[in-house]
Amino acid sequence: MPARRPLVAANWKLNGNRDSNARLVDELLSGLDNSLLVEVLVCPPFVYLSELAARLEGTVVMLGAQDVCAEAEGAFTGEISAAMLREVGARWAILGHSERRALYAEGDDLVARKFAAAQLGGLTPILCVGETLQERESGRTLEVVGRQLEAVLDHCGVAALQNAVVAYEPVWAIGTGKTATPDEAQEVHAAIRRMVAARDDRIGGGLRILYGGSVKGANAGSLFSMPDIDGGLIGGASLKAAEFLDICCAAAGQ
Ligand code: PGA
Repeated sequence: MPARRPLVAANWKLNGNRDSNARLVDELLSGLDNSLLVEVLVCPPFVYLSELAARLEGTVVMLGAQDVCAEAEGAFTGEISAAMLREVGARWAILGHSERRALYAEGDDLVARKFAAAQLGGLTPILCVGETLQERESGRTLEVVGRQLEAVLDHCGVAALQNAVVAYEPVWAIGTGKTATPDEAQEVHAAIRRMVAARDDRIGGGLRILYGGSVKGANAGSLFSMPDIDGGLIGGASLKAAEFLDICCAAAGQ
């Protein structure tokens, strides 16, 4: 089994403007050592993708979107397709983020259709899964995460996971300052890998599984040292260059 290259993805959410984005990526680029054995990706709001694509061209930092429409074209006011995102420079798309699931009522079926649409349009999906605090406290974590994952496996087939990333993001840890312990996260990551491996051993073994939820420079190293944690999806801490660079170094094992 080839080693899984670590990936650190920045989810900027609804933050930034032209000036602050340019400053942030310039700071990242000057702080990132090209020899770092980690892939780095930023996901700004849609409207900034074009200009950031120009700024990031030829650099080690890749570009992704925070969502994608499940449809390719047509009467879907306000939506943006995978092909459009790809045309303006995005190569990745975050899908099924818990904020989309909770605030915009995105269900497992819609997320699975978005996953398929993203791949069809040439984007690599980052599929987010995770349980709420109530679900964790009632012992349903693996059931919930399993259901979210199986929806995609059933709709797209296990082969689709060859060119995708899964992000485990416990909802109670997102933006709260409360992080899952490395052991808590590892348990779920290992379960996700087992679920995929049950359908295809090789794809399960090679799948990159990111952890997200209040990752900071100070806790990244212990999370990323776990055997099934292959990097992070970073919200708040990705808006501060120094903090994000610390996380990238932790993912590279440095
Ligand atoms: P956080 O967000 O790092 O601010 O907790 C993570 C995410 O929502 O992807």
